[in-house]
Amino acid sequence: MAIHLDQISCSFGSTRALHHLSLDIAVGEQVALIGPSGCGKTTLLRLIGTQLRPNQGHLTVLDQNPALLDPGQLRKLRTRIAMIPQHLGLVPNVQVRRNVLNGGLGTIGLPRTLVQSILPSPSETQRAFHWLDRTGIGEKIYDRTDSLSGGQQQRVAVARALYQEPGILLADEPTSSVDPARARDMIELLTSLSREEGLTLVVSMHDLDLARACFPRLVGLRHGEVAFDQSPDELSEEACQSLYQLESSLPEHHHEQTD
Ligand SMILES: Nc1ncnc2c1ncn2[C@@H]1O[C@H](COP(=O)(O)OP(=O)(O)O)[C@@H](O)[C@H]1O
Ligand SMILES: [Mg+2]
Repeated sequence: MAIHLDQISCSFGSTRALHHLSLDIAVGEQVALIGPSGCGKTTLLRLIGTQLRPNQGHLTVLDQNPALLDPGQLRKLRTRIAMIPQHLGLVPNVQVRRNVLNGGLGTIGLPRTLVQSILPSPSETQRAFHWLDRTGIGEKIYDRTDSLSGGQQQRVAVARALYQEPGILLADEPTSSVDPARARDMIELLTSLSREEGLTLVVSMHDLDLARACFPRLVGLRHGEVAFDQSPDELSEEACQSLYQLESSLPEHHHEQTD
């Protein structure tokens, strides 16, 4: 298993984000996490990314339990998990190459990082180009990052994640900063790269139709619990509707929960 979660609960103060959640994801699987705002998608991704510890339950990521690792081992595990954050986290006023090379920061240590930031080696530049090229924007390597379109910047963030050569790729609502026409392109890019590289992929998203079209496995979250875990063919209209209905009733519930 790439990811094993057993009866995980996670709270922030009195707000319950995840509740007795169990989920297994095999190596190379592609999973869409679906559900309305506040259902626990980001929390779940942060747990898998080992940025967050559960209050209860047991998890292993790439066969390791983060709670049992020393800081060095934890750092090493984290280099094997790449996360594309919701707001991308790119440095705007530097070359695209710089942002891609930042994907290696966890691996090479501080002295090499300082040298690299002034003078990247030809092989590092070559690898940055390779991953940019795989995302379709190799020719942008020397452009300023903030001169790129939103969709292109998203590709820079994907290239940065892949530069890290991870075993698991996580993306938190990666379609939220591109226009709807481009959302499908982005999801297809992530799923095809993950297939070709044998990467385990977990993507959170709002758009159930897009998830059904592009992912072999859909996990619906509701109030921090698994509402369904199915292939697009198995997924019933009722299951979809319950998620959609929830979306319209969420703001009230959300207040109740946080009060
Ligand atoms: N850092 C935090 N502090 C307090 N509450 C949080 C924090 N992160 C998430 N929550 C709460 O946990 C619940 C799940 O949030 P989140 O995982 O961000 O959901 P989603 O990503 O699906 O919108 C929400 O009620 C949210 O308000
Ligand atoms: Mg979120």
